[in-house]
Amino acid sequence: MVIVGTQWGDEGKGKVTDFYASYVDMVVRFQGGNNAGHTIIVNGQEYKLHLLPSGIMHPTKVVVLGNGMVIDPKVFIDEYETIRTRLSTVAKVIISPRASVIMPYHILFDYLEEALRGDSKIGTTKRGIGPCYADKVARCGFHISDLLKPQTFMEKLKTVVLKKRAIAHAYIDLIKEMGLEHVDLDNLEAMVDRALDIDTVYEEYIGYGNYFRTHNLIADVTNIVGNALANGKWVLFEGAQGTLLDIDHGTYPFVTSSNTVAPMASIGTGVGMQYLEDVIGVVKAYTTRVGEGYFPTEIKDRTGEIIGKRGGEYGTTTGRKRRVGWLDLVALRYAKEVNSLTSIALTKLDTLCDLDEIKVCVEYDIEGRKYKKLPSYPDAMAKARPLYKHFDAWPQSEIEQLKTLRIRRIDELPPRLGAYIKYIIKEMNVSLALLSFGADRNATIDFKGIASSVR
Ligand code: IMP
Repeated sequence: MVIVGTQWGDEGKGKVTDFYASYVDMVVRFQGGNNAGHTIIVNGQEYKLHLLPSGIMHPTKVVVLGNGMVIDPKVFIDEYETIRTRLSTVAKVIISPRASVIMPYHILFDYLEEALRGDSKIGTTKRGIGPCYADKVARCGFHISDLLKPQTFMEKLKTVVLKKRAIAHAYIDLIKEMGLEHVDLDNLEAMVDRALDIDTVYEEYIGYGNYFRTHNLIADVTNIVGNALANGKWVLFEGAQGTLLDIDHGTYPFVTSSNTVAPMASIGTGVGMQYLEDVIGVVKAYTTRVGEGYFPTEIKDRTGEIIGKRGGEYGTTTGRKRRVGWLDLVALRYAKEVNSLTSIALTKLDTLCDLDEIKVCVEYDIEGRKYKKLPSYPDAMAKARPLYKHFDAWPQSEIEQLKTLRIRRIDELPPRLGAYIKYIIKEMNVSLALLSFGADRNATIDFKGIASSVR
């Protein structure tokens, strides 16, 4: 099973993954890094995860960080130690030796690149994600396995740091030349010195390597996940971010630096595509976006404020306020295709209760031409004018009915909620996997019937 976001991230993947994680044998992350973040609430306790896959709370599972990920070792260790302190036992964790390592200078360059972009900044999470993926593709990145080999690590570090220092100073000169007032130059010089001090970086990162070794965290992911699948085990691949943030298929350049779509589950772990049988797209009942970029259905009035506040739409990673908009079926039909979705999980239905009305974008008008599906050119959304269908909002009592009635079929849904949900699945031409209408695990209906079909 692959679970991916269909919008710009923050669709509620964490909760959906956590729900299904209790039934599977392994949970695998295959892309992204600690730009992701989600909150899981179990028995009233809140857990914030950035790098660890959602199954970490289940002691009998194996959770995996695949080769397609970028890992900041410090963040990983902090998260792993914190969760082990709070829970007496956690899942077995495995990291691919081929996963990329976020180095201190990646975070520095994320900051410098954004400073230089000025008004056309992307609004990155400044976690070093883009520069780390850039180095991977430029073939000067570090793998997790490099942290286990002190001598070769030092040799490579010396070469890389030399180049990075030259580039960092050239960037600083450029920033001075451009007179960018929002950049604190004194602080910047200090950041460069810290991030590019060979001995400090060496000591720190070899220390992380020792931690990974002594905790037995590094193993052959391709083999382990591949064997599990070949032996009929149930593996859940947990996507991060969302389809519209995909480096190839998203709203470029306002995207993240990895492939967030479902086929990446195969590339980001090394297991065959034949295993990606069931692809669930998580769809929030409305849309949000963090950072810059096009957003045709953005709501700029008080309704947007109300939805944002009720939905707690603030980033788990950066705390930034998310922009809010109506559901966009044009983008969702596209997400269905690029991910080969077999079903959707519809989340946060409780947030839209009792509004004056609810709108859904059914078509775009781009320069007089109508589009039912997002055309695949990067700035297609720039000129899109959304055409809406209006729905009556459902009362809170319908959400209460979801909690109290034992609803197992779509035609048993309360009327207004039912009308909205049926319309979405009909227009996307997918089946319904799950409904979520509250943060707690209990506020969930699983239409796949997985809970009752597991061994
Ligand atoms: P980066 O991934 O830090 O390079 O950020 C690139 C863009 O992706 C920015 O607009 C971020 O706000 C957005 N982004 C990255 N990760 C997430 C996520 O997990 N949820 C929502 N937006 C994200």
